Amino acid sequence: MRLNFTLISTFLFASAVLADRGLEHRSSQLNIQKRNTSDYNGINWAGAVSNQSVPTFWAISSTFKAPHVSGPTESAVGIWVGIDGFYETKCGATFLAGVGYIMTNDKPFYQVVAQWLPGTWKEFTDVEVSPGDLITVTVTVASDRTTGNATIENANQMTTQTLGFSNQPALCQLSAEWIVSKVGDRDLANFSTVSFSNPLALGGYQKFTPAGSVITSIGNETAIYADENVVTIWRAY
Ligand SMILES: *[C@@H]1O[C@H](CO)[C@@H](O)[C@H](O)[C@H]1NC(C)=O
Ligand SMILES: *[C@@H]1O[C@H](CO)[C@@H](O)[C@H](O)[C@H]1NC(C)=O
Ligand SMILES: *[C@@H]1O[C@H](CO)[C@@H](O)[C@H](O)[C@H]1NC(C)=O
Ligand SMILES: *[C@@H]1O[C@H](CO)[C@@H](O)[C@H](O)[C@H]1NC(C)=O
Ligand SMILES: *[C@@H]1O[C@H](CO)[C@@H](O)[C@H](O)[C@H]1NC(C)=O
Repeated sequence: MRLNFTLISTFLFASAVLADRGLEHRSSQLNIQKRNTSDYNGINWAGAVSNQSVPTFWAISSTFKAPHVSGPTESAVGIWVGIDGFYETKCGATFLAGVGYIMTNDKPFYQVVAQWLPGTWKEFTDVEVSPGDLITVTVTVASDRTTGNATIENANQMTTQTLGFSNQPALCQLSAEWIVSKVGDRDLANFSTVSFSNPLALGGYQKFTPAGSVITSIGNETAIYADENVVTIWRAY
């Protein structure tokens, strides 16, 4: 048992965060986009956010064990590590990478993706994921704020792939987050506990962990624990 274990109570922002346009059924893309900012109903991600008031973050990484995902057809969930997804900082762009799942015929269909929003979506075609696999996600941003890399490694299957992005909408470098999200307006699928270990964000020469970060929950559907070593998210019911 961890020392100083404190269950951080979850709370809601009166604002929307990452969202919508949803998973395009035709293309099966797990596409998370910013919700219409005048729509204040959607609290659709759960996890920890490190935020700063001046441009700071140029890298974020973490390792998580791929969960078991279940639920009714069309329910979905995404697991992401990224920069500038925090609605409160009002950046018009977000760069994140991770694994998205959608239930189809009682089985989770998944995609390993990186998204630089709005606009660009890429799939890590070399990386497969099975429940229990140890997945490491790293996202880096160049000083021009419009160029960056996303790397995903599956330690169990010994695969790694890096996807480069360029000429993207400029990031603000104001937040770094470790989160589980809804996918558009779909019901949140059931997922076994997701623990982001070695959560680390870099800003200048400084290191940031989830200690003291902002905690967000998907309504009462999730519960979150965060400290300097881990962000744990589980299905609350
Ligand atoms: C955003 O949401 C508001 C209120 O729900 C609606 O009036 C407006 O048309 C929406 N805008 C867009 C671009 O969807
Ligand atoms: C981070 O966001 C929270 C919630 O909006 C806010 O209270 C806090 O002041 C922000 N911190 C910084 C350093 O901007
Ligand atoms: C999640 O699992 C619970 C218990 O098995 C079940 O009642 C619920 O309908 C499931 N929800 C979803 C979205 O899969
Ligand atoms: C992205 O990867 C390329 C190729 O390895 C490298 O030259 C570049 O510096 C990287 N950019 C960032 C922001 O990590
Ligand atoms: C969760 O919240 C919703 C909406 O606020 C509410 O209708 C529902 O009863 C709550 N469920 C539980 C299990 O607390």
